[in-house]
Amino acid sequence: VSLQKYHSFALATQARFLWTVNRVEQLQQALRTITAKNLPVFILGGGSNVIFTQNYAGLILCPQLKGIRYQYVNHTQVLVEAAAGENWHDFVQYCLAKGWYGLENLSLIPGTVGAAPIQNIGAYGVEIKDCFASLTAIHRQTGRSQEFSLHDCQFAYRDSVFKQHLKDQFVITHVRFLLSTQSLVKTQYGDIAARLSSWHITQATPQDVARAIIAIRQQKLPDPAHIGNAGSFFKNPVVTEAHFNQLKAQYPHIVAYPQAHGVKLAAGWLIEQAGWKGQNLGQAGVYEKQALVLVNRGAATGQEVMALARQIQDSVWAKFMVALEIEVNLL
Ligand code: EPU
Repeated sequence: VSLQKYHSFALATQARFLWTVNRVEQLQQALRTITAKNLPVFILGGGSNVIFTQNYAGLILCPQLKGIRYQYVNHTQVLVEAAAGENWHDFVQYCLAKGWYGLENLSLIPGTVGAAPIQNIGAYGVEIKDCFASLTAIHRQTGRSQEFSLHDCQFAYRDSVFKQHLKDQFVITHVRFLLSTQSLVKTQYGDIAARLSSWHITQATPQDVARAIIAIRQQKLPDPAHIGNAGSFFKNPVVTEAHFNQLKAQYPHIVAYPQAHGVKLAAGWLIEQAGWKGQNLGQAGVYEKQALVLVNRGAATGQEVMALARQIQDSVWAKFMVALEIEVNLL
């Protein structure tokens, strides 16, 4: 099976098998078969944060469970559950249309609801942990379903328990969020406020914030329908305050965000300063409007993507002594 259509970076690699399942029972049946046959398996959501850099000798399993349910907890809070196969952006817009707020800053993030908790997706000052209630996941070996609370998920920046000690052990089937009927907009991050004021909006609604973020993302980030990419390729690195002070003395314009422990740097800025913005290595490239995003110029190979990533890491290390960690899943 060609994987080109199944991941937004769109490399021309292949998998031995690909199955889609639409119901929980089908998923459990598939997991039993996989265990019995001892097949290597990869669980695929929307394919927007994974790059299949080489052919895969196992099975790609795509859970496409659908459905949204909700229940008012009181007159200002609603508990909303979405099945893993729902498209993330459509789910966010559905909630907004219902007047349920909290997820609007996460508009236009590609991918599925089920993949969102794995890396605690975040953008424009909000992460899903901020509205997360709980999730249900099926254990791959036993087929049993289990509930995970906010605490159980151990969310951190682009991280959760499902990337750490429970990696590759569960398949998420349903995710629940606690949303509010009262709007509490977050407009502090980046260009949101500037965008709203350019539209002469003074009292922004959550719908306005969503529109602003959609416009900003469309301007900065390449549309995978036209140019293959997987969003940010690296994480924004966190350095010690001492290291940051040294860098700041040498590079007064360095872009940084103070954290509880250390300082987070804008990896896009580091990559741009290292001279990579708009550069290519074969058919793999660094996006000209956002250096943190690597792109497929059309016929990139897995080797080219890996080589480009390594060269960027090497030159950012040589210039700033900062190690860039890869954010996307490379298979
Ligand atoms: N910058 C540059 N040059 C560049 C890119 C960025 O100088 O080529 C500087 C600019 O000063 C800019 C700052 O870096 O103001 C931050 O850039 P941006 O707002 O685009 O955000 P980011 O830190 O590069 C992160 C997330 C994005 C998310 C945005 C907005 C990570 C790894 N990435 O990117 O998430 O959309 O913030 O919140 O944390 C993703 O995970 O795939 C993703 C796109």
